[in-house]
Amino acid sequence: MSNAPRHRLPGDRAPAAEVGRILRVDHAGEFGAVRIYRGQLDVLGRGRDAGEIRRMAEAEQRHLAAFEKLLRERRVRPTLLQPLWSIAGYALGAATALLGERAAMACTVAVEEVIDEHYRDQAERLAGEEPELTKTILAFRADEIAHRDIAIAQGAEETAGFDLFGAAIKTGSRLAIWLSTRL
Ligand SMILES: [Fe+2]
Ligand SMILES: [Fe+2]
Repeated sequence: MSNAPRHRLPGDRAPAAEVGRILRVDHAGEFGAVRIYRGQLDVLGRGRDAGEIRRMAEAEQRHLAAFEKLLRERRVRPTLLQPLWSIAGYALGAATALLGERAAMACTVAVEEVIDEHYRDQAERLAGEEPELTKTILAFRADEIAHRDIAIAQGAEETAGFDLFGAAIKTGSRLAIWLSTRL
């Protein structure tokens, strides 16, 4: 993705259409994150990790609110797949939580690793062209990395089949990104 040919020179402004796609997919991702944590909290809301999950969920709400504002300001429509992400995100959160607290944390690690790469690629593409948006994306990226670290500290990697489990969730997350960029 990041080695796709570029037809712009450094310093050229990112075309509005490209910025629109970036905002759309990021809004979709943060919406999905909110739904994942909602699903986790409905299952684990009284469990050992409820406090950590709630704090991460609050960060995702802030991220989502920021992208909602940006969509409005730049007149970008949200993804058509939002109803699907509402269900899929919630189901992923609830299903992993039903497997236990560590599996829920393993889900967080997988999703956040994908988002970390995704935001890093976007920040590279936007650098110099959209300084404010780049700053926002990098700040959110730092939050996502912190979420991954919290999840690891809570024992995510002790989940049975952690690698396979994480790989499946990453594939799903990448597919969701691909689709939300296009639809
Ligand atoms: Fe987020
Ligand atoms: Fe996060």
